[in-house]
Amino acid sequence: MRKDKPSKTAYKVALGVVTLGAKPGMDKFLPPGIVLATATLLVASGAAAPRIVRWSRSPRMVSFYEAFDWMLPGQFEAFAHRKAFCERQVREGIAAGATQVLALGAGYDMMGWRLAPEFSGVNFFEIDHPATARLKAKGIEEMGQRENLCLIAEDLGKRKLVDVLMANESWVQGARTVIVAEGLVMYLTSEAVRALFCQCAEITGAGSRFAFTYIPTGADCRPDVGRWTGLMLWLQKAIGEPWLWSIRPEELGLFLEESGWKNAPELAGTTGKHGVEFYAVATRNKLAARKARPSRALSEINKGQNH
Ligand SMILES: C[S@@+](CC[C@H](N)C(=O)[O-])C[C@H]1O[C@@H](n2cnc3c(N)ncnc32)[C@H](O)[C@@H]1O
Repeated sequence: MRKDKPSKTAYKVALGVVTLGAKPGMDKFLPPGIVLATATLLVASGAAAPRIVRWSRSPRMVSFYEAFDWMLPGQFEAFAHRKAFCERQVREGIAAGATQVLALGAGYDMMGWRLAPEFSGVNFFEIDHPATARLKAKGIEEMGQRENLCLIAEDLGKRKLVDVLMANESWVQGARTVIVAEGLVMYLTSEAVRALFCQCAEITGAGSRFAFTYIPTGADCRPDVGRWTGLMLWLQKAIGEPWLWSIRPEELGLFLEESGWKNAPELAGTTGKHGVEFYAVATRNKLAARKARPSRALSEINKGQNH
């Protein structure tokens, strides 16, 4: 992606959330307070002009998004389900004893900011590219800092997650943690995704869980988002945020096992897929993650998936 510019896809997700707030019936799915917090952040950070946010909240914008749903069927509403899925994972993880929440590629997501006061004994961490993270930090500063929310500006393609977190004095190595990677892994190379999962297993403790969303791989070994896959791959590349990684749902278990995690579909609830993305949850494997190595079969699959 273009590293010097704030993420366009994070902006798109945030505006989508604001517009979903204007769609009747979506309040059933959207976590409470998310629409107002996101709209306020977009303006306070300078990521969006006030008039853009006002338009985004209008029924006309709902119709506009719906008119484009033919390209990625269900993807507009899917943002609400995705947010609900991630928040549910975090709440359940905390209820099960997690004391840290780590959002990777957090973009303009406001879950940490909203939940930090409710869970004052939990430390929330967010990592994103400097250009996006700095803009968000500016908005959060205006909206009110949370003592237990730490925004980290880092390119995970350049610096290892382990090094980033070890340098952070609030991070507790080996603590029970909920990791969230919402709409992130498709933007990383297969080597980077594997390294990320392995490192996440290294830095977290027993009982940790990893909630993430991913795009499935199609028969042609490319990310598969349906009929308009070719156009979408081109568009993503054109905006500088190409989709690089995908996986077949039936191969996820092996991939996770080799990366220090165990697929835990029973924790995902009924929300297996919305729009073009699958939702997955993994729990940390007892085996040492750093010893995990991909099998030859999976290495071959991964090779075919770097576009
Ligand atoms: C589609 S957005 C999703 C944002 C947020 N998770 C959400 O769903 O609202 C993807 C995010 O991943 C971030 N990202 C992509 N590659 C990254 C990298 N190598 N290091 C840090 N962040 C990255 C982008 O900056 C962007 O904010």
